[in-house]
Amino acid sequence: MSSRWGEQFCISIFGESHGASIGVVIDGLPSGIPLDLAEISQFMQRRAPGRNKTSTARQESDLPQIQSGFHNGVTTGTPLCAVIANSDTHSSDYAPFSAIARPGHADYTGAVRYGGHQDVRGGGHFSGRLTAPLCFAGAVAKQLLKQKGILVGAHIAQIAGVSDLAFDPVSLDADTLLCAGQRDFPVLDVQAGETMREKIEAARMAQDSVGGVVECAAIGLPAGIGSPMFGGLENRIASIVFGIPAVKGLEFGAGFAVAQRYGSENNDAFCLQNGQIRTATNHAGGILGGISNGMPVVFRAAFKPTPSISQEQHTVDFRAMQETSIAIHGRHDPCVVGRAVPVVEAAAAIAIADACIEIFGLQNW
Ligand SMILES: Cc1cc2nc3c(=O)[nH]c(=O)nc-3n(C[C@H](O)[C@H](O)[C@H](O)COP(=O)(O)O)c2cc1C
Repeated sequence: MSSRWGEQFCISIFGESHGASIGVVIDGLPSGIPLDLAEISQFMQRRAPGRNKTSTARQESDLPQIQSGFHNGVTTGTPLCAVIANSDTHSSDYAPFSAIARPGHADYTGAVRYGGHQDVRGGGHFSGRLTAPLCFAGAVAKQLLKQKGILVGAHIAQIAGVSDLAFDPVSLDADTLLCAGQRDFPVLDVQAGETMREKIEAARMAQDSVGGVVECAAIGLPAGIGSPMFGGLENRIASIVFGIPAVKGLEFGAGFAVAQRYGSENNDAFCLQNGQIRTATNHAGGILGGISNGMPVVFRAAFKPTPSISQEQHTVDFRAMQETSIAIHGRHDPCVVGRAVPVVEAAAAIAIADACIEIFGLQNW
């Protein structure tokens, strides 16, 4: 099911970038949950383009219109549907891609998969724009989790080789977790952020793009959430994070670094702190056997450089079956990482809400 996700907190995302609208239906919500619509809007604005020079010049309003499932300020428990109208579309920019494949984009694979019937305008259903409804669902999930004392936050960990400070995986506090989300350019170290912006601008001037890494964490998650084998927290987070366009890698806790360690270095020793079971280190990223251990859940997602660049690139006209070249004009992000930060938060919140509803049930919210 390509655009449906979830066992408990189920989302179905619909629409194309230059169609009438995009949106999401969320099924499986507890009833009676108050939703702060202003907070949802603010969260979605963090993803919206055109906020600064490092993002595309497109002006998308990203204003969600709730159609159902919300009444008298609370969720009804029946499907919650939100629609976001599309505007500021320049569909003619995309006409060539129905036959000439943009390297790194889904024009060729989409055409093969859908027999050429897919909507190529603005990237169609493959567009980064489809992360707007994901953010709506994530904002709802975040409010749900907040009621249980669970907070989710993220920041840019790296862009073009420039690193931000890292989250402290053992004693991450709410202020640090949420601080980047309050900034225009979501980093912990503002100076590092300036250097990242310079790198993005340099890439843009060179008609190129850059990628990077988003670090995300959840705190306040009690031990015991998640299930073994295929129902683990890692599985759920991974399957939804890989639904975000341009994600190419994911690591939990110490991630790939664990492969080079001895067990004695990598194991997180258990300890007691104020009568609570904790671990002294958190290489596991808060997850053991697919189940939360009460420590912060920490993961990082790697984003590739934006595929659409205005530099000339070699490609194929797959209708004419001829080699050709392409220079992509139009309004593209020279780096998607900054805008992807709330998207990763949204994906994590949905995955964690899904796992929490499985354990707590709908009635105990
Ligand atoms: C928030 C966001 C914005 C994006 N904006 C663009 C863009 O302006 N131009 C572009 O070519 N790709 C953009 N992408 C990435 C493409 O949508 C993505 O690379 C493409 O659909 C192919 O999918 P894949 O990279 O996951 O294989 C964006 C991704 C995200 C998450």
